[in-house]
Amino acid sequence: MKIFIDSGNLKDIETLAAIGIIDGVTTNPSLLAKEAGDYKQILKKICDIVKGPVSGEVVSTDWAGMIREGHDIAKIDSHMIVKVPLTRDGVRACKALSGEGIKVNVTLVFSAVQALLAAKAGATFVSPFVGRLDDIGTSGMGLIREIVDIFDNYEFTTEILVASCRHPIHIVEAARMGADICTCPAAVIDQLFNHPLTTIGLEKFLKDWEKAYGAKV
Ligand code: G3P
Repeated sequence: MKIFIDSGNLKDIETLAAIGIIDGVTTNPSLLAKEAGDYKQILKKICDIVKGPVSGEVVSTDWAGMIREGHDIAKIDSHMIVKVPLTRDGVRACKALSGEGIKVNVTLVFSAVQALLAAKAGATFVSPFVGRLDDIGTSGMGLIREIVDIFDNYEFTTEILVASCRHPIHIVEAARMGADICTCPAAVIDQLFNHPLTTIGLEKFLKDWEKAYGAKV
């Protein structure tokens, strides 16, 4: 399963990309609004760092505007993915952009039928938001299960990009279900490394080594 970082912060992206486990990046207007500087330059820098799919979202709400913005976003770098919302205009823009060979990520997906519409419109990625569903007392991972089942029944090539991941359990469950990608904030990816037994075990190994051989090499 691929791991994307859900961030527009160059420092966070650089730090995690250096470890070698980041396959791509997702941004949204809220995330890029937090960063200083020109958003197109930020997206270009992210592409240079990660060299994998980087989603940049349109802010137009009409299909013609989304297509215009989509062309601009796609021109930033060959790794750019155009993110459009799951609205009637968004699905129409997805169909048109995908037909031109531009990769599209359909976002703000909260139901299995919405995911089906995105796949039918040729989306490269579909982004169901699991955390925001959990927030309203609906099972986010239940939705992923439904989408995996539906996509498995047909020949859709659309990848399931589990978004709004809030904790490691979302990632474990997504991997068990066979979702293609999880996109997570830097802090959540950071948590994936932690286990108290790893910390305790390493401390003991180093202490034992020091007792026998003195100072560390
Ligand atoms: O980028 C879309 C999604 O991952 C947002 O997550 O935490 O704002 O619901 P969140």
